Amino acid sequence: MDIDSQRLIDAAREAAQGAYAPYSKFRVGAALLTTDGEIVTGFNIENASYGLTLCAERAALVRGLCEGRKRFVALGLCAGSAEASATPCGACRQVLAEFMGPETPVFYAGLEAGSRIFRTTLGELLPKGFRL
Ligand code: THU
Repeated sequence: MDIDSQRLIDAAREAAQGAYAPYSKFRVGAALLTTDGEIVTGFNIENASYGLTLCAERAALVRGLCEGRKRFVALGLCAGSAEASATPCGACRQVLAEFMGPETPVFYAGLEAGSRIFRTTLGELLPKGFRL
């Protein structure tokens, strides 16, 4: 499958606009591509009890699963600056690995439009992830 990384990053960037991040002010947008070519987005949702914060990746994943999507073929993540864009946190890597294979591409870029898009894979981000 040919993946349009720009489309995925654009969707993630747009999603980041909705982030609820009054504490960190760090907006994150995530976009998951489904096997049907649809995009499911999510953003980070913080909480006054900081540890209860939901990351954008997991928000997108939960949304997709609850809408009946079962498999995802790529992730786009948009956060931070062009020079220091974010990759998924460790907890999100493990949760994503439940529904995406190690070869799944992960595209990430800064919030500013036109930021360079980097590519890695879930397997590179989470080698030897936990499995039952
Ligand atoms: N955050 C995400 O949404 N995804 C990640 O992979 C890392 C961190 C959010 C959580 C919090 O709202 C903000 O970024 C700062 O940590």
